Amino acid sequence: MHVPHLLQQRFIDALKDFTDRPEQYASMIRGTSDPKHGDYQANCAMPLAKQSKDGKNPREIAAMLVAKLELDDICEPPEIAGPGFINLKLRDRFLTDSLANMLGDDRCGVAQVETDKPIVIDFSSPNVAKPMHVGHIRSTVIGDSLARTLRFLGYPVVTDNHLGDWGTQFGIIIYGYKHFGDPDVVESNPVTELAKLYRIVNQLVEYRKASKSLPKLKQTIEDARQVVTEAKDTVEQAEDKQLKKAKKTLAAAERRLAGAETGLASAEEKILKVEQDSDLGPKAIAHANIDTEVLEETAKLHRGDPENISLWNRFLPHCKDEINRIYARLDIHFDHTLGESFYHPMLADVTAKLEQLGLASDSDGALCVFLPEFDAPMIIRKQDGAYLYATTDLATLEYRLTEFNPSEILYVVDTRQSEHFEKLFAVADHFGLSEVKLVHVNFGTVLGEDGRPMKTRSGTLIGLESLLNDAVDRAKQVVCNPERLVNFDPPMDAEEQDNIAEAVGIGAIKFADLSHHRTSDYRFNLDKMVALDGNTSAYVQYSYARMQKILQNANASDDDVAALVREHGVEFTHIAERNLVLQLIRFEEALNTVHKDYAPNHLVDYLLETAKAYSRFNDNCHVLKAESKSIRATRLAIVFHCKQTLGKGLNLLGIDVVPRM
Ligand code: ARG
Repeated sequence: MHVPHLLQQRFIDALKDFTDRPEQYASMIRGTSDPKHGDYQANCAMPLAKQSKDGKNPREIAAMLVAKLELDDICEPPEIAGPGFINLKLRDRFLTDSLANMLGDDRCGVAQVETDKPIVIDFSSPNVAKPMHVGHIRSTVIGDSLARTLRFLGYPVVTDNHLGDWGTQFGIIIYGYKHFGDPDVVESNPVTELAKLYRIVNQLVEYRKASKSLPKLKQTIEDARQVVTEAKDTVEQAEDKQLKKAKKTLAAAERRLAGAETGLASAEEKILKVEQDSDLGPKAIAHANIDTEVLEETAKLHRGDPENISLWNRFLPHCKDEINRIYARLDIHFDHTLGESFYHPMLADVTAKLEQLGLASDSDGALCVFLPEFDAPMIIRKQDGAYLYATTDLATLEYRLTEFNPSEILYVVDTRQSEHFEKLFAVADHFGLSEVKLVHVNFGTVLGEDGRPMKTRSGTLIGLESLLNDAVDRAKQVVCNPERLVNFDPPMDAEEQDNIAEAVGIGAIKFADLSHHRTSDYRFNLDKMVALDGNTSAYVQYSYARMQKILQNANASDDDVAALVREHGVEFTHIAERNLVLQLIRFEEALNTVHKDYAPNHLVDYLLETAKAYSRFNDNCHVLKAESKSIRATRLAIVFHCKQTLGKGLNLLGIDVVPRM
């Protein structure tokens, strides 16, 4: 049920006499946050008055509109407020009927979209050959919850994990294997060993890059110092009027200098750490060209070198096993996992087509697409013949269009890749691939407590698995501590405790991530994430368990509740009942907003508000000791439907519920 759509339909009918764009004005209906203004509010009278030829004011227009509106079966008589707002309050009867109708419905009253064009969602897409880390949470969790939500709304959804299974990271492990690997050890313990080789080579490559960057960093600092000195002089000599601007320039210059100094310090630290390491130090000296040689191993793989291809074929399954283990734990599944390697055979064709169309042209030996909207071109083939990330994405796009014929393709990828996607979409436009709606569903960074991108003490990104383990441990301390456990009858055995800790711990990480608008960065704080009484999944899961318990104590199955309602009817006797039901019928609105914005935080907000409305209901309304049979039937129906909605909502976020906690 989507009440604004229902109201809009009635408004469209009434608006036909006022405008030839009734849909546009009818869309100006919003839910209110203050019950003084009704449950919904229509704001169309003000803009309509601006168009009015006979100079009617907004309140007059609103009055005429209200006279035409046929809303009796839905709302109390509308009220006109302030400059011309139309306040709409739903009839209790409408709410109680809606509740009764939704009872047996496992869609929780949410209508099903009718369409056969799928939405493709490209998400998670890690570069394999290195363990998944904290940076992979967001794409994985946001993409999964979008997939679940859109699928539930009725869209055919195709999920595709665009694995980075063909890039430099394979050059890294191939190099590592050839120079530092022990075939027997790799054979017997591939996942750990490959991760170790990756770490060693990556550190050596980073060391090389850092060493090479020193002269430039030092030069930058020198230049920045110069600018600061000049800016200081300007401040000293500035007249009153210019002083503010000069100070600003100085502050900016000082920031740039500080940034460059931090860059140099971190490069020097990296270098020192390798040089002082008894294992890495000698390796760094012996492998002086490791950075270019790693690239050469990757290039050889791409050229079809038999040895590297055979190593790649040997390593890839282990890399996939490793990530699949994590996906299983997170309950994340893909329809397709077509990695970058899958598109490799198509790249020559794509570039040739772009050339034929006159879109790509040679620039110093590289093949480039020049886009009028951008300063720098999109390079699709380097001087040495190597293809790039962008080339693969063009081939992927073409493949998806022919294979799936989608209405939309969503790329759930870090904001830092915005420019790549802007260019990709622009090329797609020129390339005749524009029929589909392409969306970069971008997201911000996970930060540590210090507000900087979250890293371990040694400066590497925190492994995803250890993060999940920490969350589950913490959840266990919070939910299964001895003080709480004494209250359970029958007592919780170890297995039940483990299940609860897993559901609450994993749920905490997902919920916290999804609770921020995807484009903002957020600070990772495990204690806050698993709290039972904050804006957390544990709070919602706990509400669910409480409702479950009430229904159990009432000994009322789904059918029983429906039968009780048929027999005794539904009526409100307390405002908390009405508020909760009003909240419950807004589920579809929340889900539609998730789609509109590609932002699951709207669903998170909805679930938290619903759990809070439930808590007020629970504080005020006895269910089992209700004063009459019809009040009891009403309250059981509310509890039942609220439990269904919270359970479904959590499920759409990829979060489990537990029967008791
Ligand atoms: N593997 C890439 C990375 O880790 C993300 C791929 C996103 N999807 C895409 N079609 N480009 O940065």
